[in-house]
Amino acid sequence: MDKHEWYLVPEPAEEGKVEKRTVGGKSICLILSDKQLYATGAKCPHAGADLSRGWCEAGKLVCPYHRHKFDIVTGKGDPDQGNYIRTYPVKKEDNRWYVGIPKSWWAGWF
Ligand code: FES
Repeated sequence: MDKHEWYLVPEPAEEGKVEKRTVGGKSICLILSDKQLYATGAKCPHAGADLSRGWCEAGKLVCPYHRHKFDIVTGKGDPDQGNYIRTYPVKKEDNRWYVGIPKSWWAGWF
């Protein structure tokens, strides 16, 4: 059984620009980098800044407040930060992008 609910999302208008969308009830940053879409959480774990106001640089999402950096593939923060953000799976079907949001653990019970 697929553990994710897949949601259709629009492709960001520009490479490297961070766009925020609500997907499956979650605030998510969408980033197009080298024609691949990445989806991450939108809240910085450091002090709660909105990461969609940041930017993407060399495969990292940079927080606009104190410049913490997060890998857009793994969500891992730079080593000296000791933090991370959530990332979500992405797939392309029929030329459209979908983001996978994990289903609730009890969803399969009913
Ligand atoms: S709030 Fe993001 S680096 Fe401080």
